[in-house]
Amino acid sequence: MATSAASGVMNPLIGKFTKLMGDEYKKLKGVRKGVAFLRDELSAMNAALEKLEFMEKLEPGTKDWRDHVREMSYDMENCIDDFMKDIGGADASASADFVKRMSRRLKTLKVRHRIAGEIQELKARAVEANERRLRYKIDDCNTSCGSVDIDPRISVMYKDAAGLVDTDGPKKEVASLLAVTEKKLKVVSIVGFGGLGKTTLANQVYDDLEGQFDCKAFIPVSQKPDMPRLLNSLRLKLGINESSGICEVQDIIGQLRKHLANKRYFIIVDDLWDEEAWDIIRCAFPEDGNGSRVIVTTRVEAVAISACSYHYEHIYKMKPLSSENSRRLFTSRVFGSENKCPSNFEEVSNEILKKCGGLPLAIITIASLLASRRERSRNDWENIRNSLGAQFSINPTLKGMRSILNLSYMNLPLHLRTCFLYPGMYPEDYEILRDELVRQWMPKALSVICMEQIWRTLG
Ligand SMILES: Nc1ncnc2c1ncn2[C@@H]1O[C@H](COP(=O)(O)OP(=O)(O)OP(=O)(O)O)[C@@H](O)[C@H]1O
Ligand SMILES: [Mg+2]
Repeated sequence: MATSAASGVMNPLIGKFTKLMGDEYKKLKGVRKGVAFLRDELSAMNAALEKLEFMEKLEPGTKDWRDHVREMSYDMENCIDDFMKDIGGADASASADFVKRMSRRLKTLKVRHRIAGEIQELKARAVEANERRLRYKIDDCNTSCGSVDIDPRISVMYKDAAGLVDTDGPKKEVASLLAVTEKKLKVVSIVGFGGLGKTTLANQVYDDLEGQFDCKAFIPVSQKPDMPRLLNSLRLKLGINESSGICEVQDIIGQLRKHLANKRYFIIVDDLWDEEAWDIIRCAFPEDGNGSRVIVTTRVEAVAISACSYHYEHIYKMKPLSSENSRRLFTSRVFGSENKCPSNFEEVSNEILKKCGGLPLAIITIASLLASRRERSRNDWENIRNSLGAQFSINPTLKGMRSILNLSYMNLPLHLRTCFLYPGMYPEDYEILRDELVRQWMPKALSVICMEQIWRTLG
C-alpha cells in the first residue's frame, strides 16, 4: 500500500509538470526545458513504482528507493506549488492577464534566478533517483502477481454470498440460550476470532426471533465508540422520535430506559471491544422481568464473560467451519453454478482450504480472488497457495488474516486499489453512503472505463 501512496503522489505531480509545459507557460523559456526533463524522469520512475505495486514483498534496497522517491515527490510538489504561486497563483488559468503578470514577474532577475536554481536542484535529485533505479535493477523486478481485470461474474458471486453454510446448528444453539423461559433480562455473548461469523450468526438469530419481541435493534459498537452517537442511533432505531437537543449520555440513557420499560426488547450489541463501553451501554437496558434479550458479539473473551455477568453458560463460542462445510462454501464461491471442483484442482483446493483453517472470511476472500482470475490455471492457484502463511490454520492470528486480505488487495488492478483505500477515511462501522463514496472518487480523474467497471461491480 505504501507504493500505492507513492504513485498516488507522483501522478498529480506529473500532471503539474505537464501543465507547466502548456501554452499558458510558454514564456518560461529557460524553465520549460528543465520542466520537460523532470516530467520525463518522473514518468520513468512512476512506471517503475506502478510495477512495484503488484509486488507483495520488496527488497530493502527497493523499499528504500520507493520511500526516497515518495519524499522527493512531496518536496517537488511543494516547490512547484510555491513556484506557481510566485508567478501568479496556483490556479493558473490561461487568461491573458495571467500571462502578462507572469512574464512581468519573470523579468525580475531575483525570481528567475531562484526558479532556475530550484529546477537545477530538482533535476539533480531526479537524476540521482533514476540512477539508483537502474542500479537496483528495479525495472527487472519479477511481478509475481499480475493485474487482473475484474470478472463480471464477481458481482454475481457476491450476491451468492447469501448462501451461508452450516448455520442451522449454531442458530439453534444460540436460540436455546435465549429461550424465554426466564423472565429476567438475559444477555448472551457470542465470542470468537475475527471473521469467524459472529455478526452473521447474530443477524440470523435476529431475523428468526425478532417477531417474538415488542421492539428490537441492532447496534454496531466498534473499537472506539462515540458513545453519544451510538446511543442516539439506538434511540432512532427504536423509533424514539422525541426530538430534543439532548446530547448528554445520561439523558439519552434516561430516554432509552423510559422507552424500553415494560416492553419485551431484543437488542444485538455487535462488535464490543471493552468492558468500559459495555458498562455504559448496559445502563440503557432496564431489567424489568419481561423476558427481554440482548446478544453481545465480541472477539474478546473477557468482554464476553463480563457482558453476561459471569454466567459462563450464557456464552456461545464460535467454531471454525468443518472441512466439509469449508469446501462447500469455497466451491460454491469459485465455481458458482457448476458447484463442483474439477479433479485437477482438487488437491490444490484442499491445500488452500487447509490454510484457511475453517475461517469463513478467509475462505470467501481467497475464493473471490480465485473466481476473479480471467483464466483458471493450476499454476496460478499453486502460487496463491504458496503465498498463504502455513501457520494460519494452526494459529489464526490477525496478522495471518491480514496477509490473506493483503493478497486479495494486491491482486486488484491499480485504479480499483485507489478506490478501495477511500473507505479507510471513514470511522469504523460508519455507514458509508454509496453515492457519497462515488462522489469522492470522481475528482480523482478516474477514467470513464474505470467508473463503468466500478458501477458494474457495485451492481
Ligand atoms: N456460515 C457462513 N457461511 C458462509 N459465509 C459466512 C458464514 N459465516 C460468516 N460468513 C462470511 O464471513 C465473513 C465474516 O463474517 P462476520 O463478519 O460475521 O465475522 P465476525 O466474526 O463478525 O468478524 P469480526 O470479528 O471482524 O466482526 C462475512 O463475509 C460473512 O458473510
Ligand atoms: Mg462482526
